[in-house]
Amino acid sequence: MNFAQRTHFCGDLRLTHKETQITLNGWVHRDRDLGGVRFIDLRDRTGLVQLVIDPSSEAGKAELRSETCVSVTGMVRERSEDVKNPKMATGEIEVVVSAIEVLGVAKPTPFPLSDESQMETVDEQLRVKYRYIDLRRPIMYKRMAMRAFLVAGLRRYLDDRGFLELETPIITKSTPEGARDYLVAYRLQPGQWYALPQSPQQYKQLLMVAGMERYYQIAKCFRDESQRADRQPEFTQLDVEMSFVTQEDILQLAEGLIRTVLNATIEKFDLDKDPIEPFERLRYDDAVRLYGNDKPDLRFGLPLFDLTEALKGTEFGVFKAVIGSGGSVRGVRYPGGAQLSRKEVGELEEFAKSWGAKGLATLQVQSGPAEGEVKVSQSGLWLKGSFAKFLSQAEIEAILKDSAAEAGDLLCFAADTYANTNNVLSRLRLEIGQRLGLRDPRKLKLCWVIDFPLVEWDEDSKTWSPSHHPFTAPKAEDLQYIDSDPGRIRADCYDMVCNGSELASGSIRIHRSDVQAKIFHLLGIDEKTQKERFGHMLEAFSYGAPPHGGLAPGIDRMVMLLSDTENIREVIAFPKMGNGYDPMMEAPSPIDPAQWKELGLTPPPPREA
Ligand code: AMO
Ligand code: AMP
Repeated sequence: MNFAQRTHFCGDLRLTHKETQITLNGWVHRDRDLGGVRFIDLRDRTGLVQLVIDPSSEAGKAELRSETCVSVTGMVRERSEDVKNPKMATGEIEVVVSAIEVLGVAKPTPFPLSDESQMETVDEQLRVKYRYIDLRRPIMYKRMAMRAFLVAGLRRYLDDRGFLELETPIITKSTPEGARDYLVAYRLQPGQWYALPQSPQQYKQLLMVAGMERYYQIAKCFRDESQRADRQPEFTQLDVEMSFVTQEDILQLAEGLIRTVLNATIEKFDLDKDPIEPFERLRYDDAVRLYGNDKPDLRFGLPLFDLTEALKGTEFGVFKAVIGSGGSVRGVRYPGGAQLSRKEVGELEEFAKSWGAKGLATLQVQSGPAEGEVKVSQSGLWLKGSFAKFLSQAEIEAILKDSAAEAGDLLCFAADTYANTNNVLSRLRLEIGQRLGLRDPRKLKLCWVIDFPLVEWDEDSKTWSPSHHPFTAPKAEDLQYIDSDPGRIRADCYDMVCNGSELASGSIRIHRSDVQAKIFHLLGIDEKTQKERFGHMLEAFSYGAPPHGGLAPGIDRMVMLLSDTENIREVIAFPKMGNGYDPMMEAPSPIDPAQWKELGLTPPPPREA
């Protein structure tokens, strides 16, 4: 039972341990038999160390396939100068083995762990199926360790400030966060169903009504929604709620929390990232106007510009038609883009079209006359492009001024509805930023987007739907528009955004049942449905509910940012594949006929092959 007497971890051994008798536990990373001497790299979660074994000794006879779990005893010795390995933390020493005990024999593994460079070619589903092997890789261990450190930091910060960590139910009732519910059949009352929570939203508000004042939870959330690289059907939020606070109090607390904990993680794991600075703040309208969406990447500038007003008398047919029908002409600047060949500009247009653009009109900005058709501005810049000939002198001056154009730029224009131009140009802006190397992975640029609209018009269902969720409080001064112009109501609602992705969402909540009923009404939820689905909330708000609000940062998303991965599965120990499938457990899976019967359910007819 040597393993119970472990004295050291592999990755910690240094020259200072020279001549020390040690016992290590770990996995065989690599085994090289060089005739007279056998070298084994032994790995545990702290790193690798080289073992040296005399092949003719008792220990040297053991068959040790890669990933076999062993315990070894030996003596640390200094390597001779010519074989020291400066790339390895333990590269100055090796361990001369006197005894080796095999604890767990390994079959040949489905993919090799000894060569990290080969991992990119390994099918991800295979990695997830054998996750317990995949997680042995140092990079995966680091992500899990970072995740654990981050969560511990969040807990410590909130515990120190009087928050209570409380659990809320997992089998519960449908919660509206905009996705479909996962449903759980109930054996004792066939036909009655639980739903898994999309978030603990209602419970945390009820905890405020209950006088808990400051709550948090590392909360599992379940959402049946279309999968994306940054979404999982089951994910983790840091769920927070506070009473007697303003929006400002929550923003201050959350900013302090996230900066402190992310900066501590960056330091602890020696990540190649600059410390996070105080967050910028942007109003929702400004974020959309300047960057085309509500989650801007602020690591670089290149704001969008709007020429709708300046070009309202234009002779260029495409723009004229769009402006005439109430649309917008907006653009983005591509520094250095005047160099692109005709073919490359064509590819840029195809890129824009792949995001829904009808076309992409472009102008090259030059410092002097070039071949082909050009127009001159007062500032001495020249414009070249297929529609330059249609532009008046005043229009040219407006374009150059509003776009802040410089020689060498390519100005890209989209003409469409305001929303569509924003959608296309925000994508194009990111693409340009990427090409110019402006999306620096060392920077984490966080900002608050505030003053979201309370509701959005849904053209399909012809109803107003909440921008956040139906419990979000309207700004008191905007409530007057509830009947006349609901789209104009702004909410005390905020998102935390980092490098172009949403990290957290939150709001001040409605705490009065009359206001809540009014908002349900605006959302087209009739009184009967209000009672059935949210009766408990309306009821609770009539027993002295305190003003309250909160937010929920996504834990997986934070670890993604720190790990420089765009694939959420890389930061989750046991993730689901894109189609919701867990290849390791083979879930979802069929249930027994007896279970169908017990639940009072009829199985669907077998699917045609
Ligand atoms: P929301 O739905 O915006 O707000 O979610 C908050 C944060 O949770 C993360 N997130 C996800 N992460 C991984 N996979 C998903 N499918 C997924 N969906 C959301 C994101 C997001 O910013 N109850 C409100 C919060 C509140 O108002 O307090 C809520 O759930 O990082
Ligand atoms: P067309 O008149 O369709 O040949 O288009 C002339 C130029 O205008 C081409 O470069 C098109 O890509 C561009 N264009 C067409 N429609 C739009 C639009 N809605 N927005 C921006 N550019 C467009």
